[in-house]
Amino acid sequence: MLLWFIIFGGLMRADCYFSEEKHPEESNMQSPTVVIAVIARNAAHSLPYYLGALERLNYPKDRISIWAATDHNADNTTAILREWLTVMQKTYHYVEWRPMEQPTSYPGEMGPKHWTNGRYEYVMKLKQAALNFARRRWADYILYSDTDNVLTNPDTLSLMIKENKSVIAPMLDSQTAYSNYWCGITPQGYYRRTAEYFPTRHRHRTGCYPVPMVHSTMLLDLRKEGMKKLAFHPPHRDYSWPFDDIIVFAFSCRAAEVQMYVCNKERYGYINVPVKPQQTIEDDRINFLHLHLESMINEFSMFPSQYLHLPPKQTDLMGFDEIYLINLRRRPDRRQRMLWSLYEQEIDVKVVDAVDGGALNSSDIKILGVDLLPGYYDPISRRTLTKGEVGCFLSHYYIWKEMVDMQLDKTLIFEDDVRFQGNFKRRLMRLMEDVAKVELDWDIIYLGRKQVKPGELEQVENVKNLMVVDYSHWTLSYAISQQGAQKLLNAEPLSKMLPVDEFLPIMYDKHPNEEYKAHFPNRNLQAFSTHPLLVQPSHYAGEPKWVSDTETSTIWDNDEVQTDWRGSYKTLKGSAPPTGFQSASRDEL
Ligand SMILES: *[C@@H]1O[C@H](CO)[C@@H](O)[C@H](O)[C@H]1NC(C)=O
Ligand SMILES: *[C@@H]1O[C@H](CO)[C@@H](O)[C@H](O)[C@H]1NC(C)=O
Ligand SMILES: *[C@@H]1O[C@H](CO)[C@@H](O)[C@H](O)[C@H]1NC(C)=O
Repeated sequence: MLLWFIIFGGLMRADCYFSEEKHPEESNMQSPTVVIAVIARNAAHSLPYYLGALERLNYPKDRISIWAATDHNADNTTAILREWLTVMQKTYHYVEWRPMEQPTSYPGEMGPKHWTNGRYEYVMKLKQAALNFARRRWADYILYSDTDNVLTNPDTLSLMIKENKSVIAPMLDSQTAYSNYWCGITPQGYYRRTAEYFPTRHRHRTGCYPVPMVHSTMLLDLRKEGMKKLAFHPPHRDYSWPFDDIIVFAFSCRAAEVQMYVCNKERYGYINVPVKPQQTIEDDRINFLHLHLESMINEFSMFPSQYLHLPPKQTDLMGFDEIYLINLRRRPDRRQRMLWSLYEQEIDVKVVDAVDGGALNSSDIKILGVDLLPGYYDPISRRTLTKGEVGCFLSHYYIWKEMVDMQLDKTLIFEDDVRFQGNFKRRLMRLMEDVAKVELDWDIIYLGRKQVKPGELEQVENVKNLMVVDYSHWTLSYAISQQGAQKLLNAEPLSKMLPVDEFLPIMYDKHPNEEYKAHFPNRNLQAFSTHPLLVQPSHYAGEPKWVSDTETSTIWDNDEVQTDWRGSYKTLKGSAPPTGFQSASRDEL
């Protein structure tokens, strides 16, 4: 009886248990498989960022295989790639590694950046080998991405897959109009600029567009039938266009009736502008550095791989006695970006906490001996000084004072919203050498400013790219001599304060307002400006990300009244946002 109960009761319970159980759902699909082709040459300066971006792609690594080749290197490319692959092979599905240590150059090449026919052919063969590898493994996709393309947007791969195209490229941003697509092609297979190019490049129109050429970074969907016919090498039997791997492949797509697409819906990443054949790896490095600095201003910044052991950079003061960075403690984002930017340029800097005007009340301001310049009134914004402007003035003032107290001959001052022009460090050092050579009597040299009234400037003799300054706004960055700092202190500006970028033009006697000038009798500051300018503001008034810390804060001597404008017209007027990045002009390199 007991035995029967146990068996039967047990069965009953088991029966109920099964009928109540939920059936498991069908499990999800795994992501498609992707081969990433990495073909590196003389890329030691960009590889850490390129690889950093690959490792941060939001895509399951066990669905990715890496096919990596490197050859003809005169730099540390092989070692860097090897170090990364050694660590990463545990996480990726599979890694194929094809290093070639010798030779380090091609016969007949002008330099490591010169593309000989031998180089073109070898690259075509490498790309073909990667394609064959992906086909043999029945990979769903192959992603080609040159090692100076940095896919900083971690969703790029998934976003491209989602578009469901045979051949698709994310539009990459650069320092110039250059990108990884063409909108037109000549009957001989050369580049042709068309009306669609700029609206696409500047994202005035956004979407995914059919184009005759994408290159450098592109995703191929190998499951689509037409893709079987595509090849990089040997070129198509009817091929008569230039012997160039990207043109050969575009022709192959055309012959196979496969349409190429470029997408510009988002920011996906960056492409370095190629240097000329006779230029060097160092020139390429400097270009890439500028691209890197630009990326920091935008949404997706470049970061090096966390798996590489890079030698630390050697920073210096570029011949100055001190370099100051003025930063408000409550703007750590700006501080961080400026510190990274300067470190990447191998520039040493001392951070000074800006006087936070917003935290000053009217009694603090009295104790500091600050008083407004009688009659000072900004005619455009219809207001007097703001607390932010008081804080900004004091921040600059204390640096001038420190310079004099510590007997520093010359220093460089940065505010924290600076955008560097290409090759900043070398250009500034060359300028200061010239200035020393001609024994120029100088007090301040603007590296960035807003020229108030455009006009002809007087060139300084025997110093390339230096002008006698005229009425200017902004104090983004300037070099200052001890003599200059002393002159500014002697003027006793705290007790007759106006914005610091109005005070300086008074002191070099180019300010248009005679009444203001009358308060400062010794207006003999020797002021100059670099031309072209070496820095710009990182964001212009009116741009979405633009926030001014000086011109949006409350009126200087009133603790209650909050000003309600976003930026004064002084900054807004005439300061058109840049249409594209400026790169160092070639003859300056
Ligand atoms: C070359 O790269 C390896 C691997 O990242 C690194 O350990 C080494 O310090 C690098 N050498 C130089 C000279 O940069
Ligand atoms: C992707 O495109 C193919 C044609 O190439 C089409 O058959 C398929 O349905 C598309 N897939 C999706 C999810 O839209
Ligand atoms: C101004 O702030 C200081 C502290 O920074 C405080 O001691 C003082 O009482 C304040 N004065 C007024 C008028 O609020």
